[in-house]
Amino acid sequence: MVDDMLGTPSAVRDAERWTAHNYHPLPVVISSAEGTAVTDIDGRRYLDFLAGYSALNFGHRHPTLIAAAHAQLDRLTLTSRAFVHDQFADFCRELAELCGKDMVLPMNTGAEAVETAIKVARKWGYRVKGVPDGQATIVVAEGNFHGRTTTIVSFSTDSDARDDFGPYTPGFKVVPYGDLAALAEAVDDTTVAVLIEPIQGEQGVVVPPAGYLTGVRQLCTERNVLFLADEIQSGLGRTGRTFACDHENVVPDMYLLGKALGGGIVPVSAVAANRDVLGVLRPGEHGSTFGGNPLACAVAIEVVRLLATGEFQRRSAELGAHLHAALEKLVGQGLVAVRGRGLWAGLDIDPALMTGREACERLAERGILAKDTHGSTIRLAPPLVVTVEELDHAVEQLAAVLRQA
Ligand SMILES: Cc1ncc(COP(=O)(O)O)c(C=O)c1O
Repeated sequence: MVDDMLGTPSAVRDAERWTAHNYHPLPVVISSAEGTAVTDIDGRRYLDFLAGYSALNFGHRHPTLIAAAHAQLDRLTLTSRAFVHDQFADFCRELAELCGKDMVLPMNTGAEAVETAIKVARKWGYRVKGVPDGQATIVVAEGNFHGRTTTIVSFSTDSDARDDFGPYTPGFKVVPYGDLAALAEAVDDTTVAVLIEPIQGEQGVVVPPAGYLTGVRQLCTERNVLFLADEIQSGLGRTGRTFACDHENVVPDMYLLGKALGGGIVPVSAVAANRDVLGVLRPGEHGSTFGGNPLACAVAIEVVRLLATGEFQRRSAELGAHLHAALEKLVGQGLVAVRGRGLWAGLDIDPALMTGREACERLAERGILAKDTHGSTIRLAPPLVVTVEELDHAVEQLAAVLRQA
């Protein structure tokens, strides 16, 4: 990439030698970070405009979160759910209150939250809705990304994610994203849930047509079907509201949360729902050794408290408007489209100029870290602590990359 790199090439080679090639990382080897900035092993500074796929909404090493982690490390780290620990109730109550729901079920990764939602919806379908045993179906959207387990990739429409990993879990119907008529047609007496992302992040920050989420809510209510909103990437301030569903004042039956819930420190995920839904689970039916552990809860309590101030949502809304206004000016200047909400943008690069990967490589050379998806799209999702100056600088670098193509 650049001449002044000393340790980077060999560190990249070592990493490639000793790990499966399930990722294609940019050749940047990060060794420290603070706020929006990261530093690599050769001392180069970058602005992190991926923010761990939104796991770093509060920036790298937010002081409040780091302090909570340190304090908890010195007291208690793991009990398993065989016992109760002193951080558990506060975390569950405060997260449930943030979500406006009766209760939560903590897990670790986003995929586990999705698996939890699927299991709960199926059991709810059999025990509450009265679907005949083994016949429950869940309707999902084309272009979805909900994680990497064998069940979740069973209903992926991305061949890289799905092919060669069968046999696939049955019980899912796929409809076009944003198409309410198709959704209505797919729902029948066996349908227990509709599972969608309110904005499709991995697909390229695809925002559904206005009224879609409201329509999904109405349909689910009318047909006695659970609305499961996967807010793992879109939630917790990313779009300028606590949840992306808030933009249409829509309340799903279940929020699926992850990524930023762990404050960029520990993997923490959860589902939040009312008692009539989550109450279907009985001891022994679901769980996780690390889910809801003391360290996770101590950090996540502070995450919830940061969100409860509303400051991060406000920053995302205001700075996001600034970012989108600046990006719109590049449409026709190397970008063919810009989508998104708040501090979250999907940019389609003119494919005649370069691929998304090439754009990210050139941005990295200019000190901006971003990630491509699906050929010619790149995503920008800076930490919500980013400054106006940093946003302007990143957009200038992007403009320069597009000009020099
Ligand atoms: C919307 C959504 N759901 C689920 C997941 C899976 O989360 P994890 O990688 O923590 O399993 C992701 C990850 O990108 C996601 O964006």
